[in-house]
Amino acid sequence: MNAQQTILINGRELAFNSGETILEVARRHHIDIPTLCHLKGTTPTGACRICVVEVAGARTLLAACATPATAGMKVQTESPPVVVARRLILQLMLSSGNHNCAVRGSDNQEWTAFQLKVQAEDGSDELCPVWGDCRLQELAYRYQVSGERFDATPTRYPMETVNPFIIRDFSRCIQCGRCVQACNEVQVNNAINFGYRGPHAKIIAAGDRPLKDSDCVFCGECVQACPVGALVEKDVRYAVRPWATGKVRTTCSYCGVGCQMDLHVQDNQVVKVDGADAAPNLGSLCVKGRFGYHFINSPERLTTPLIKENGQFREASWEEALDRVADGLKKIRDTQGGDAIGVLTSARMTNEENYIAQKFARAVLKTNNVDHCARL
Ligand code: FES
Repeated sequence: MNAQQTILINGRELAFNSGETILEVARRHHIDIPTLCHLKGTTPTGACRICVVEVAGARTLLAACATPATAGMKVQTESPPVVVARRLILQLMLSSGNHNCAVRGSDNQEWTAFQLKVQAEDGSDELCPVWGDCRLQELAYRYQVSGERFDATPTRYPMETVNPFIIRDFSRCIQCGRCVQACNEVQVNNAINFGYRGPHAKIIAAGDRPLKDSDCVFCGECVQACPVGALVEKDVRYAVRPWATGKVRTTCSYCGVGCQMDLHVQDNQVVKVDGADAAPNLGSLCVKGRFGYHFINSPERLTTPLIKENGQFREASWEEALDRVADGLKKIRDTQGGDAIGVLTSARMTNEENYIAQKFARAVLKTNNVDHCARL
């Protein structure tokens, strides 16, 4: 091992590649350092400070996500000063919004006035819209802190519920900026950013308008990046709990790119979709992949072919429907020639599907009239 390229983390001598941060080296060697604002593959901002570590010789604790590893560095990831700092950071975050999951009643049995107020504001009997799927809650329990040490910050901005797919709950936003990075650096949509200053800071879109009136394309990358309950899919809020769903990895069927997605399934119904961290999409999805799943269990979905007769549709078997199509195409080809037929495929189908379609057109229908429509 080259002594110039090693770092000591918790007493373990670990090799690193130049340019790697302390966090990256630690993760590569399965050493857990908690993070909140860090979003893999984007520029580290060091905004939340929850990843602070103790580095021998440094004047202050350093953010592991934003500090490059250097040769001979000695790092402690869970030393007493680190734990004290993380607890304080969590307490400040918990008291700065409606993080009512980490608040105890005086006798540990009843909801506090704060919890009841938040429930009334949300119109829900439950404590949290994303209970069990919140990084802040997870860390509050890990470091055993609640939000009572500091006075609660009043809610400054009302919830934004007018968007078609996403609810923005500013009372639960911890200003980590992951949504901004997901939008600007991952999807490069540049629809949202930080607005206002100091205690009035807020994530805004288009001069502080609702997402639906901005450049937002509702890809939902921001929702997937949000570590708390500030950005939640409309249909998922208060409705989907991680322990009640199973995950099924599948390939998106909307186009030929082959994006990998995780379907969250409850009672044999898809209730939520996440982008899977695998090629080719590496976690990202478009609006159709993420939100266009309700057709799967729609009662309006056609389950049998329909044939139109005398202006009315009637149900038919697949054999009858395919025979009808084949007879019709054969009649046109034999009486008017293949040029009377055109075949439209789609640029969003797979190569294999398009190959089969042109083969069918040329070899069977005797036509070269093959084209595609990008919107099919
Ligand atoms: Fe490192 Fe937020 S995760 S500063």
